[in-house]
Amino acid sequence: MRELIYRLPYQFLSRLERLYPHHYRQILNTFTNRKPTTFRINYLKTDLIDLRRRLLKERVRFQELQFPKGAFISKLSLRELQDTDVYRECLIYVQNISSMLPPVILAPHDGEQILDLCAAPGAKTTQIVSLAPGAQVTAIEKDRIRYHQLLTNLNIQGADKVTAMLIDGIWVRKKFPEHFDKILVDAPCTAEGLFMLHNPRTYKYWKEKKVKELSHKQRNLLHAAFFALKEGGELVYSTCTFSPEENEGVIDWFLNKFKDKLEMVPFEIPLSNVFQGIVAWEGKKFSPACRLCRRIVPNEFMEGFFVAKLKKISA
Ligand SMILES: C[S@@+](CC[C@H](N)C(=O)[O-])C[C@H]1O[C@@H](n2cnc3c(N)ncnc32)[C@H](O)[C@@H]1O
Repeated sequence: MRELIYRLPYQFLSRLERLYPHHYRQILNTFTNRKPTTFRINYLKTDLIDLRRRLLKERVRFQELQFPKGAFISKLSLRELQDTDVYRECLIYVQNISSMLPPVILAPHDGEQILDLCAAPGAKTTQIVSLAPGAQVTAIEKDRIRYHQLLTNLNIQGADKVTAMLIDGIWVRKKFPEHFDKILVDAPCTAEGLFMLHNPRTYKYWKEKKVKELSHKQRNLLHAAFFALKEGGELVYSTCTFSPEENEGVIDWFLNKFKDKLEMVPFEIPLSNVFQGIVAWEGKKFSPACRLCRRIVPNEFMEGFFVAKLKKISA
């Protein structure tokens, strides 16, 4: 295992050890072990009682989680699960448990105008619609190939009332001024939380320079999202990476950029691998409010994630 770990970029490992001195070894172990297939219910097509019955009937052995509600760990491989009718009929959506958290924290409701600013391939857009089928959801994606994956997923999952747009998210500032009650910014990031040693494609492009580049993109997207949010509206920012520059660093910048116009919203994730945000990194201090961010440390079935929730208190 030791030698395998050193396939990961040295700079990345050194940063991770500084960031998580107490959990470093434990996190390294999660890069070597394959994670079980996890999925969530699609409430547009079924309910929990019916889904449990169908899973038992099809002999899909599973463990149902208490949180988030409607999340399952499958005892089948992805390939075996894909060969079931519950999968073919889209009663479920295969998704990591960590990735299910941002829509749950966004807490969408029927009747609300909701924007998913970085939407493809649509795991979270379809989850938002599954949780609030009466919401008006707009999904934006910049990459053409991924946009078509999004359209396919919206269609097969029964979320075809979503307005999907192939544009750069920064244009929402002009296109939708003060329009949305809730916005999800599941930002493009270095995806360190998804590194898997058996798949070099997950980590071989990592460079410290990319962390910086992406933090600029993330700021631009949040900047645009601020203007598209109604006064009193709420925004959830998430990434699947550990880098503080892409997480608390971006939130700290956002709070300073819109001083007195934004406030952090506290939320709870009742899981043991969740920690508060950090307030200092590599000599830089962040706003104490960044403690209200949440860091999800990967475990045997969850990927590394970061989530923050903010409210626009004035325009
Ligand atoms: C982390 S992925 C989103 C995953 C998606 N939310 C899901 O749960 O299925 C980030 C997405 O943002 C898209 N993206 C990157 N820059 C963008 C921009 N400026 N505007 C809109 N989308 C962008 C990427 O192409 C990518 O599909």
